Amino acid sequence: MLQIGDIHYDKFSEKTLAVDNKDKTPPAGIVQNLARPVSLVIGEHLKSRMSAGDRPAVVICGDLTSRGDTETYKRAVAYLEQLLCAIPATCPNADQVHIVPGNHDVDWRKTMPYADLSVHRLRPIVDIVDSSLIPAPLTVTTRTSNIQSGNAAATISSVNTCRASGAYRQRPEFRIADPIIQALAEASGLDESELRSKVATALADSPPESHEGLDIPLIEAGDLQYLVTTIGQPPPSGLHIVAAHHGFLPQVTARINPYSEMVNGGDVRQALLASGRPVVYLHGHIHEDRVEVITAGSTMKQVPARPQVVIISAPEFADGYNELEFEFSERGTALGLIIKRYRIAGGVIYRAADERIALGGRSIVDPRAKYFIQKLHGTMARGLDIIRWRSDASAPEDARQLDDDLLEECIEELCWQGVIDCDSDRTLPFAEREYRFK
Ligand SMILES: [Fe+2]
Repeated sequence: MLQIGDIHYDKFSEKTLAVDNKDKTPPAGIVQNLARPVSLVIGEHLKSRMSAGDRPAVVICGDLTSRGDTETYKRAVAYLEQLLCAIPATCPNADQVHIVPGNHDVDWRKTMPYADLSVHRLRPIVDIVDSSLIPAPLTVTTRTSNIQSGNAAATISSVNTCRASGAYRQRPEFRIADPIIQALAEASGLDESELRSKVATALADSPPESHEGLDIPLIEAGDLQYLVTTIGQPPPSGLHIVAAHHGFLPQVTARINPYSEMVNGGDVRQALLASGRPVVYLHGHIHEDRVEVITAGSTMKQVPARPQVVIISAPEFADGYNELEFEFSERGTALGLIIKRYRIAGGVIYRAADERIALGGRSIVDPRAKYFIQKLHGTMARGLDIIRWRSDASAPEDARQLDDDLLEECIEELCWQGVIDCDSDRTLPFAEREYRFK
């Protein structure tokens, strides 16, 4: 899966690689070669990734523009089209693509006054996405799709966290202090109460400038209920991925700005943790490259396992993008996630350090695997040896009950948890892989 963060195409399309140019009239070809447009460098990399032939899913986390003008939005969508859909054979299908609006994608100042959470204001950008080659619609409320590969299955839900971007409120009531009213009454010869009523009438008739637009990130109540219901669908071991523009945790950098955080972020956190499923929440907005894992108040060693939510924020697209590789067991349980960070620096795209995160929401450490961990102490064993241990006379009953697939799953989960190590390529059959206690 590819995660694309805020594009802000107006600035992005102008940006070139940095060149410390001390020559006022350098040979043009050299400057052109070094100061290439960032959109070209990242675009070529992403395009080559798309044409690799394995059709990754793509999540586009919003803020395609900076000021919500539809012309720029159109250009950004055309750019994405060319990266993702230029080759029909490798273009992802609708289930594989999710695209959400960002708070910068709507010119909400133009649509004031605006008080409810309706999404009609998004119509212009909905139409732009609909009339493009991008196979999925813009998610204006919520949207879910399922993707499957062999036994591995994941549900992707996207949600619009910008439904209250541009909601307005009346400016705080304008109140004139008593001594001023008294002074005005004295100067004008008007009665004090008459003066107060004239001021009140004038304020009530004031133009829309007395309305104040606010940018309030939230997940609308019905949308949150929808997410919770969707995540709660069977199977319990299923992996759920949520795509949104805003994160639900406060950003790391101190910020003094009313409503800069998702106002019901606590509800979202609670709802996702209470699902009891592994959830991966992908977002943009903060332009920070950050991965956070939250659990429902337990350590990873606790059995049975507590659910965990992995929150991944994409950097601004001008800095690169993320590729997420999910590993599943033979039986289709999500074991772990590798985050590959493609970043731009020094004129090239490089792959920054990968991050590996265990997802084992179903059985962080299956208690039945304890016997095999003990056997692995001080030795190295192949998967085949581990399968044989199951039939040893000393093997406890619950270890004997593990069929081959479940045994492999337990052993691989222990690897993801860092309890044991696998020294082999994971594409090898289980029986041939080598394991040792760490
Ligand atoms: Fe942004």
